[in-house]
Amino acid sequence: MKPTPVGILGATGTVGQRFIQLLQGNPWFEITVLAASDRSVGLPYREACTWRVSADMPAAVRDLVVQPCEPGLDCKVVFSALPAEYAAEIELLMAAAGYAVLSNASSHRMDVDVPLLVPEVNPAHTALISQQRRSRGWERGMIVTNPNCSSTGLVLAIKPLHDAFGVRRMVVTTMQALSGAGYPGVSAMDSLGNVIPFIKSEEDKLASEPLKLLGTLSADGSAIEPAQMRISAACNRVATRDGHLETVSIEFERRPSVEEAIKVLSSFRSEPYALGCPSAVQPPILVRSEPDRPQPLLDRDAGGGMAVTVGRIRPCPVFDLQFVVLSHNTVRGAAGCSILNAELLVAQGWLS
Ligand SMILES: NC(=O)c1ccc[n+]([C@@H]2O[C@H](COP(=O)([O-])OP(=O)(O)OC[C@H]3O[C@@H](n4cnc5c(N)ncnc54)[C@H](OP(=O)(O)O)[C@@H]3O)[C@@H](O)[C@H]2O)c1
Repeated sequence: MKPTPVGILGATGTVGQRFIQLLQGNPWFEITVLAASDRSVGLPYREACTWRVSADMPAAVRDLVVQPCEPGLDCKVVFSALPAEYAAEIELLMAAAGYAVLSNASSHRMDVDVPLLVPEVNPAHTALISQQRRSRGWERGMIVTNPNCSSTGLVLAIKPLHDAFGVRRMVVTTMQALSGAGYPGVSAMDSLGNVIPFIKSEEDKLASEPLKLLGTLSADGSAIEPAQMRISAACNRVATRDGHLETVSIEFERRPSVEEAIKVLSSFRSEPYALGCPSAVQPPILVRSEPDRPQPLLDRDAGGGMAVTVGRIRPCPVFDLQFVVLSHNTVRGAAGCSILNAELLVAQGWLS
């Protein structure tokens, strides 16, 4: 199969750089376009971008001239790593012009006809694309989104538990890495030796996005009925570089034992892996038994950053069960999820 040409909107930012790194060697996609703001347009990528990913900037993108984020780009698929305030309009323009837009931004996540997708969790929700095209009059274009970085790790961990035992309500507290705020993000003076107990709009996203992700597709494929559970979220910015850690306490319809929960989590199978998607990993959930794991420094790169790690599974004296979840925020929680979404669309025939 010849790789599909893809572009990256917001290619110079934290998530944009991660897209470039993760797409190197991807057999299904080839980067042909990099786009960013007026500040960068017209410059070779090597000059427009201050490269912050640990390996060197890939040779294939160094000389690409940065394009404006507007229709006319030489590709069929665009990955959007734009700030939400600009993504809202640009993504609509691109989709209306026939591009498949795979977005990391929050702007269209909760639109009723836009799939909010984690391929291991709700692969059938791509059916919404037909409704989206009908309601917006788009022939070929589409917008498909991935969740907020802390919702992604959480929802992947609770999906098998919800299917088996029914989540009724949950309390989640996050410890989110600095890279989640983009570059340069929070200043060193504000973050070192400190915890900031507020991340704008984050708690609302964490309380609402899982309900759509775990919701039920209507019989005609035109809408999602949100899952009936309540989530109380508290989000904190901590001085780690990458990797969001979350502590979770859950009350279920049927209380599982610790052993049952471990069995259900460990045996969860990835549908995109079974479909042959190159970025999918098996297992997508790793369960650790050490009392002090997962830790961002040790576990965020599990499965190349695409697996989530769950540990400290134990009875909760208030609800039923509590545990800790870790996921890599710019890989699993952003660019990696978006690439896997695109691979799922290929495997399902939406991008053929
Ligand atoms: N960081 C994470 O862990 C994470 C996780 C999940 C989702 N997200 C979401 O992903 C998106 C990108 O986040 P980020 O952390 O990568 O942000 P970032 O580091 O601030 O990068 C922003 C990018 O957008 C470009 N840009 C800014 N204004 C623009 C405009 N008016 N028109 C066109 N391009 C513009 C910038 O280009 P210039 O360099 O030319 O200014 C840059 O390439 C956000 O919506 C964020 O909420 C981030």
